[in-house]
Amino acid sequence: MELWLNLISRWTHIGTAIVILGGSIFLRFVLTPAAADLPEAEHLALRQRVLARWKRCVHGGIALFLLSGFYNYFRAMPLHKGEGLYHALLGIKMLLAFAVFLLASGLVGKSRLFEPLRANSKRWLLITILLAAGVVLISGYLKVALPGNRPL
Ligand code: HEM
Repeated sequence: MELWLNLISRWTHIGTAIVILGGSIFLRFVLTPAAADLPEAEHLALRQRVLARWKRCVHGGIALFLLSGFYNYFRAMPLHKGEGLYHALLGIKMLLAFAVFLLASGLVGKSRLFEPLRANSKRWLLITILLAAGVVLISGYLKVALPGNRPL
């Protein structure tokens, strides 16, 4: 049973990272440049339609990241007792992940606080992608280089 829960959590966590990071890269490097030359009205209409759909992916993705992430967290804790480097890196990873969630939500949301970010969305989407890539790098290091004291 525990094996299945671990697998489902891993599939969910990695699957969500693939969809959200891959989708963000597609938006930033394929759709945005391809739509840049459209007439203003068409561009705005396309932007609104894309964001309305992408917003659901972002919100669903954050929920899945949190659910599977905290499951991973409680599973990993007993395996890494006293490993300072593991806890430090996991703490940094979680803070970066929360920053990614904040930026990603701000970019698809309507809050006035994030208006300056939306006005410069190409730059902020790139920053979000780079931070999320950092999260993946740290996570992979934790998994491979600091695997804990028993196989999963
Ligand atoms: C931007 C959001 C996130 C991304 C892109 C991400 C990505 C990843 C990836 C790629 C792995 C390696 C999975 C594997 O090889 O099995 C992983 C593992 C993990 N993630 Fe996340 N994650 C994110 C958010 C979170 C959050 C919010 C938490 C905690 C609440 C979390 C906790 C963990 C834990 C504990 C592991 C296992 C590390 C280990 O192997 O010891 N993640 N994550």
